[in-house]
Amino acid sequence: MMDKLKKEINERLIELLNPIKDGKVKEAMTYSLMASGKRLRPILFLTVLKSYQCDYYNYLDIACAIEMIHTYSLIHDDLPGMDNDDLRRGRPTCHKQFDEATAILAGDALLNLSINVLLNVQMDSSLKVNIANRLYQASGIDGMIYGQQQDLYFENKIATLEELKDIHKHKTGELITVCMQLASMIACIDDYQTWTEIGFDLGLAFQIQDDLLDVIGDQNKLGKQVGSDLKNNKSTYISILGIEASQNMIDELFQSCFEKIYTMRINHGLILEILTFIIKRVN
Ligand code: IPE
Ligand code: IPE
Ligand code: MG
Ligand code: MG
Ligand code: MG
Repeated sequence: MMDKLKKEINERLIELLNPIKDGKVKEAMTYSLMASGKRLRPILFLTVLKSYQCDYYNYLDIACAIEMIHTYSLIHDDLPGMDNDDLRRGRPTCHKQFDEATAILAGDALLNLSINVLLNVQMDSSLKVNIANRLYQASGIDGMIYGQQQDLYFENKIATLEELKDIHKHKTGELITVCMQLASMIACIDDYQTWTEIGFDLGLAFQIQDDLLDVIGDQNKLGKQVGSDLKNNKSTYISILGIEASQNMIDELFQSCFEKIYTMRINHGLILEILTFIIKRVN
């Protein structure tokens, strides 16, 4: 199922980029967006919809908007003023392949395009406004951007576990959580709170995994340079707790996700497939 969704997302992303005026920024947007990302956030959104037997295909463009926001965040995250990384999704980072100005504009353009794509979805207008409101809160200054701000603030400082949890909750948890929240706003608002809790557990587990892969991962599989966090003197769960305790935390967080999933009347198997994929991920 995940492969089918990924294919549908990739095909639609190409269609959405197609009408843009040719130029360097379009090239850079296409380069970064169409590189081999896992598409986990849009897949999560669509799968939660599917788990309620919703016709997910009607909302494919919302999934694409989410992936555009995520890709913009990666392009900017890699810039010299942020993590200064050279490799992303198995290719030179956007600013290495093009230049810094183009990478900044490509990120800005993807964020803007995501809004237009969302606004053009044919659906109930008031629900669409609520979705836009929640999505851009999640990626905005009290959401992902706050997390990125704190992540940078704590470079060369030692964060406490509580501070680190707050960074991860925002920089990664918000965008993962909003995928589940938006799907529940469309399908079953009663489950919104449960999905919110699952989203934050999953987001935290996902970022601890990311930090772990940065230490023990295989660069070829990862498609990005290992040792980035050490290079930038970031506090991570690994630097504070070590590898084993971090892995235990990841396991506990996934366990907590599984328990909450079974409290809802949905097709559990579909969600379990994604979680199992994420648990085993090597990139
Ligand atoms: C990387 O996200 C950034 C984090 C929030 C950890 P992904 O691991 O989902 O990256 P892609 O989209 O597959 O490249
Ligand atoms: C980034 O966290 C989270 C974002 C919001 C982009 P990282 O800086 O650890 O992500 P990677 O390891 O570069 O993908
Ligand atoms: Mg970063
Ligand atoms: Mg980074
Ligand atoms: Mg990382």
